[in-house]
Amino acid sequence: MKSIVILVSGRGSNMQAIVERCAAEGWPAKVVGVASNQPGAPALAWAAGRGIATAAVDHKGFVSREAFDAELRRVIDLWQPDVVVLAGFMRILGAAFVRHYEGRLLNIHPSLLPAFTGLHTHRRAIEAGCKVAGASVHFVTPELDHGPIVAQAAVPVLPGDDEASLSARVLEQEHRLYPMAVRWFVQDQLKVADGVVTQLAGEPQLICG
Ligand code: GAR
Repeated sequence: MKSIVILVSGRGSNMQAIVERCAAEGWPAKVVGVASNQPGAPALAWAAGRGIATAAVDHKGFVSREAFDAELRRVIDLWQPDVVVLAGFMRILGAAFVRHYEGRLLNIHPSLLPAFTGLHTHRRAIEAGCKVAGASVHFVTPELDHGPIVAQAAVPVLPGDDEASLSARVLEQEHRLYPMAVRWFVQDQLKVADGVVTQLAGEPQLICG
């Protein structure tokens, strides 16, 4: 059994999708802990209600990013994770933290990387006149929103879309994409070579919603 730790900052709908699919599909894995930098995150309450261990490490209580990262790492490592899953975790993590979890740290980003790293991805995609948008699951490297891409979901940008309608369309696909990618990880079905991720069982790494 592999141990999954999930980091969240807010609502936690991707976390919920992973917890539910892990149980429903009988993955060789268990979500052993959920941690947040926001003590009031609804995601923490949801996880606790499911009997999952939770921890809050409030970034506001630390003098530096390094001190926050070190405490977060201490808390996570008490759970001895095989994989750490960032699911709407809205703090930038330093290079030392990222290197500690290298090869077992996943993130979901709401754009078709390498386009639109950073914030406000859907608004920027609409403003750029994109006809396709989506989300990417990637291994985390020290450079923000970079790192080998595990899988992507693509959706159309429709005439009249605004940030809310587009983000809802993408989020629906995120809930398919992220559990699929985490399942591949815990099933040892991912290989990374020269920055390119291959799904060893030949499952498609692109979802079109
Ligand atoms: C998701 O859309 C995720 O892709 C995004 O935050 C949302 C979290 O929703 N992540 C980022 O923007 C990371 N930079 P959730 O809390 O309901 O899963």
